[in-house]
Amino acid sequence: MQERGVVKGTLGRQPGVWMGFARAFLILWIVGVGMALASYLKPPVSHEATGDRVVRVARMAELKIGEAVLVKHGVTPFYVLRVDARRVIAPSAVCTHLRCILDYDAAKKQIVCPCDGGRYALDGKVVSGPKRAALKLYSVTIRDGEVRVRI
Ligand code: FES
Repeated sequence: MQERGVVKGTLGRQPGVWMGFARAFLILWIVGVGMALASYLKPPVSHEATGDRVVRVARMAELKIGEAVLVKHGVTPFYVLRVDARRVIAPSAVCTHLRCILDYDAAKKQIVCPCDGGRYALDGKVVSGPKRAALKLYSVTIRDGEVRVRI
């Protein structure tokens, strides 16, 4: 006589199936934790000392003396201006008054604000216009004929 509610032959296998799932889950969990730990312990990839904050602008030979090139670098646009045969400067292209994008006046060799008419000298100092701070000048290096600006 068969007991009520018991189906012979299936109950014996179910715990084995669940144990298999539990083992598989445990193995996957251990592998995942091991990979996370390994990636945490792995030293970061080293970059050049200049890091990611150096913008390669142009070849020195591509810049004409007295010419200013606007480099639209995200939220920090700047000018690259070749002053003479060996010197390049990189003043910010953002007005320190109301953050307008500046123009370059090649005839007067000044940086001009189209919003309020403020003027800056090439060294970033305020020449005229509303009272405001000087322009930021970014560091320029020339390596192997390539102009690089550190921002
Ligand atoms: S916004 Fe440039 S001088 Fe006022």
